[in-house]
Amino acid sequence: MDLSPHYHLIFATLAVFLSTLIFFLTRNAKSKRVNLPPGPPGWPVVGNLFQVAGSGKPFFQYVRELLPTYGPIFTLRMGSRTMIILSNADLVHQALIENGQVFATRPAENPTRTIFSCDKFTVNASLYGPVWRSLRRNMVQNALSAGKLRTFRHVRATAMDKFVERLKAEAAANDGAVWVLKNARFAFFCILLAMCFGVEMDEETIEKMDNMMKTVLITLDPRIDDYLPLLRPFFSKQRKKAREVREQQIATLVPFIEQRRAAVKNPGSDPTAAEFSYLDTLFDLTVEGREYPPTNPEIVTLCSEFLNGGTDTTGTAIEWAIARFIENPNIQTKLYNEIKATVGDKKVDEKDVEKMPYLNAVVKELLRKHPPTYFSLTHSVTEPVKLGGYDIPPGTNVEFFLPAIAEDPKLWTNPKQFDPDRFLTGGEDADITGVTGIKMMPFGVGRRICPGLGMATVHVNLMIARMVQEFEWSSYPKDTKVDFSEKLEFTVVMKKSLRAMIKPRV
Ligand code: HEM
Repeated sequence: MDLSPHYHLIFATLAVFLSTLIFFLTRNAKSKRVNLPPGPPGWPVVGNLFQVAGSGKPFFQYVRELLPTYGPIFTLRMGSRTMIILSNADLVHQALIENGQVFATRPAENPTRTIFSCDKFTVNASLYGPVWRSLRRNMVQNALSAGKLRTFRHVRATAMDKFVERLKAEAAANDGAVWVLKNARFAFFCILLAMCFGVEMDEETIEKMDNMMKTVLITLDPRIDDYLPLLRPFFSKQRKKAREVREQQIATLVPFIEQRRAAVKNPGSDPTAAEFSYLDTLFDLTVEGREYPPTNPEIVTLCSEFLNGGTDTTGTAIEWAIARFIENPNIQTKLYNEIKATVGDKKVDEKDVEKMPYLNAVVKELLRKHPPTYFSLTHSVTEPVKLGGYDIPPGTNVEFFLPAIAEDPKLWTNPKQFDPDRFLTGGEDADITGVTGIKMMPFGVGRRICPGLGMATVHVNLMIARMVQEFEWSSYPKDTKVDFSEKLEFTVVMKKSLRAMIKPRV
């Protein structure tokens, strides 16, 4: 039944009044018990929510500006959620490496995310426990192992060829100009689709899938009622819409799941079927504590996680890479010379990439200076714990602000500068997994470190190598400066989406 707007207003006023009353009644008792890190003063009930929203700045920018005042560990109260933000390598090491088990869980999700994650049945959203262990082990050992990755070598090579052809066609139709992010993320999406479903799809189907994924991501954008649950009665329309999108998502993906299930049951029946796919590992997956394998809606959720995890992240890295090459043609030339010296006139492939120290240094510097996400996924603690002298209670969101670490002048020389040579000549290095010490963490560190790290590194290295081998990249319009402003779009992309000129190298 739909409630009238009049009723909503009375309900909301009453809810705000009661929450304020409860807040004041419990404030003293609570603050005596819990010593949270400091943070900007907020208002009752809403906390800092309206300050953040009203600032008109992206959240990462708001946080960046608070660092000089509140330091490496501080608290923001976003309505009913308490966020503790960490931005210092030592504290992160203490949390995620030394006390990794306690910091390895995730906080409660909002209702929309609960629908799309099938109540936390994904690697990224599951609580630290048996479901997470089963799903993660399966992804790491059965789907993304070095051996399994090798079986997709031809998929990557074909996707790169198609990508180069797309760029050539787009440039031919647009006086040499191409969109970077759009084309790169599409190529990665094609690779992940092939790995996930193991069935061939035509371009129209791929675009349909891509649009579906984008609609899901938009539906998952946080709303004000995620922070102020008392406003939920006003968002019944949005909840209905979310359920409809979920149904569409299931209807779009299930036919491909069933097609693959049939191909696996009757080997040889589908001549286009690949020898292996992520789906194959899910059909009969044993999940600790459960007696049945994943249901179709759960498989839809796991496939979406696989596709989403590796598309925008890697695409974003490519956009920043090309921006840096245009800004600094010497880097591009040095890279081209290395490629030529390593492979001659042959097309560069992923095996060659391992033999290119400068390319590897470029990619590392890229992930240092432009981590595709500025915050790691949100963590939470399994039990009350102390960090930096403060209390971290269960239920709080623990956030890791990555650029502050990767640009810490105590850890890096000239941290603001984009300089791949630092990893070759300057004696600077960083263990990207954080085990021996943290200096940068684009993939997170510890138990929840990104399981796609190996694959993503191959994808970014290979695509950059192919792009520089095939084309010389320059600014569009000609002789303009690249604008390095950022904006948040799930990942942190260029505010002005990059369009570049390409000239084929012959
Ligand atoms: C350049 C590309 C990528 C970057 C920068 C990246 C970054 C990250 C980060 C920061 C996290 C959070 C770690 C944490 O919770 O502390 C994460 C988690 C995750 N990533 Fe990636 N990722 C990339 C590519 C991929 C790919 C290719 C896949 C798989 C297809 C993937 C799948 C996942 C999954 C499933 C998790 C959740 C892990 C867990 O909770 O146990 N990512 N990634």
